[in-house]
Amino acid sequence: MTERGQWSSRLGFVLSAAGSAVGLANVWAFPYRAGQNGGAAFVVIYLACIFLICFPFLLAEINLGRFTQKNAMGAIRAIRPRGSWLGLGVLCISAGFCILSFYSVVAGWSLGYIFKMLAANETSFPEFAASPIQTLPLLLAFIMLTAFVVYRGIQHGIERWSKLLMPTLVVLMVALILHGLTLPGAAAGLDFFLRPDFSKVTGRTIVTAMGQAFFSLSLGIGGVLTYGSYLSKDENIVSAGTWVVLLDSLIALLAGLMIFPALFSFGQQPTEGPALVFIVLPAIFAALPAGNILGAAFFVMLTIAALTSTISLMELLVAYFVDERGWARGKITWLLGGAIFVFGIPSALSHGAVPALSQMAWFGGKSFLEFMIFVWFDIVPPLGALLFCIFIGWVWGIGKAADELAQGSPGFRKSFLGLPIRADRLWGFFIRFVCPLAIVAIWINAVFFD
Ligand code: TRP
Repeated sequence: MTERGQWSSRLGFVLSAAGSAVGLANVWAFPYRAGQNGGAAFVVIYLACIFLICFPFLLAEINLGRFTQKNAMGAIRAIRPRGSWLGLGVLCISAGFCILSFYSVVAGWSLGYIFKMLAANETSFPEFAASPIQTLPLLLAFIMLTAFVVYRGIQHGIERWSKLLMPTLVVLMVALILHGLTLPGAAAGLDFFLRPDFSKVTGRTIVTAMGQAFFSLSLGIGGVLTYGSYLSKDENIVSAGTWVVLLDSLIALLAGLMIFPALFSFGQQPTEGPALVFIVLPAIFAALPAGNILGAAFFVMLTIAALTSTISLMELLVAYFVDERGWARGKITWLLGGAIFVFGIPSALSHGAVPALSQMAWFGGKSFLEFMIFVWFDIVPPLGALLFCIFIGWVWGIGKAADELAQGSPGFRKSFLGLPIRADRLWGFFIRFVCPLAIVAIWINAVFFD
C-alpha cells in the first residue's frame, strides 16, 4: 500500500512547484554567481537558457511525472522496465541526496544568521562558518525541519507551508529593494546588474548560467517530475509551467535588485563568492536603523525559501523509497535525515574548520563545498535533463508525450503565439533536438574553446 496524495487545487501545485524552484539558488547563489561572472551579461545568458532550454524541458519533466504517476525511478521503469535507462533513475536519486547534503549546510548558515542578527552578534562570517559547534547543530536543525514537514505528507505538509510562505517572501524582498534603491550610489549596482558587457563572457560563464537555470527550476533530477506525479489529468501543465518559470526567474531578478544597488552603495566587491550574502548583507544592515530586525527578516526569508526547496528534494527521495521499495513514509524520512546530516558534514567543515577540505589543491584551491556545487549544481542537472530529453523524445516517443501534454492544455494543439507553427510540434522539436544539442554545445564550447 503506497501513500500517495494529490494536489487539492491547481494553485496548490503552482505554489508548491514555485516553492520548490525558488530557493537558495535564487537568493543566495544567483547574486554571487552573477557577481563572479560579470553581472548583466550572465543575467542575459541565464534568461536565454531559462526560456529557450529550461521552459520546454520543464513541461516535459512535469508531463512524464503526470503520465506515469510515479517518482523519478518509477517513471523510467514504467516506460523501460529494465536496461541502462534505470541508471538515469539512480542519477536522480543520488543527485537529490547529494544536493540535500550541501544545500542544507548553506540553509543552516541562514538559519544561524536569524539568531545572529537578532542577538546583534558581530562575529564575522569566516569565524562563524569555521566553527563546527555552530554550523553542525544548525545543519542538523535545518534537516530536521525539512524532515518534519515531509513527514506530515503531501497535502498537509508541503501545500500548507507553501501557501503561507511564498507571498511572505515576495513582500519582504520588495521592501528591501525599495529601501536599497534609496541608498547613495545605488545606480552603479543597477548598472552592473542590468547593462551587459559581453566581452567578459567565457565558456565557463555560459556553463554556469545554464547550470543556474536548471538548478534554480529544480530540473533534470526528477524533482518536478515527482511533483507532476501528484497532478491530475485535467490540469493545464503548460500554464502551470509558465507560472513556475515566471515566478522563479522573477525572484532571481528581485534578488539581484536587492543585492547589487546596496552592495555598490557600500563600496563592496561583487566577486565575493558563496559567502556574498553572509558577508555583505550584515554589513549593509548594520548601517541601517532597525538593521537587526531587517537583517533577521531577510534571513527568515532565505531560510523559508530554502525550506520549501529542501522539502521538494526530500520528497523526491521519499517518494522513491515509499513507491518503489514499500517503506513507511515516516521511517524513511527520518532515516534519510540522519544520512543527509552525516553526508553533509564534510561540506559543513569546508569553510575554514578543516584546512584540507577548505583549500583542496586538486580543485584549484577551492573548498569541498564549491566542489559539490560544481558537480551537483553546474553539471548534473543539465546532464539529467539531456538524458531525459532523449528518453522522452526518442524512447518514450514524442507523439505519446505530446498526447499526454495536450490533456488539460487545449491551446497546445494550436498555433504557438499566432506563429504559423503548432505549439506541440515546436515543443517536440525543442525536446528532440534543440535542448539536447544546446546543452552539449555549451559543454563542448567550454571544454575546447576556453
Ligand atoms: N531549485 C531549488 C533552489 O533554487 C533547489 C532545488 C530544489 C532543486 N529541488 C530541486 C534543484 C531539485 C535541483 C533539483 O534553491
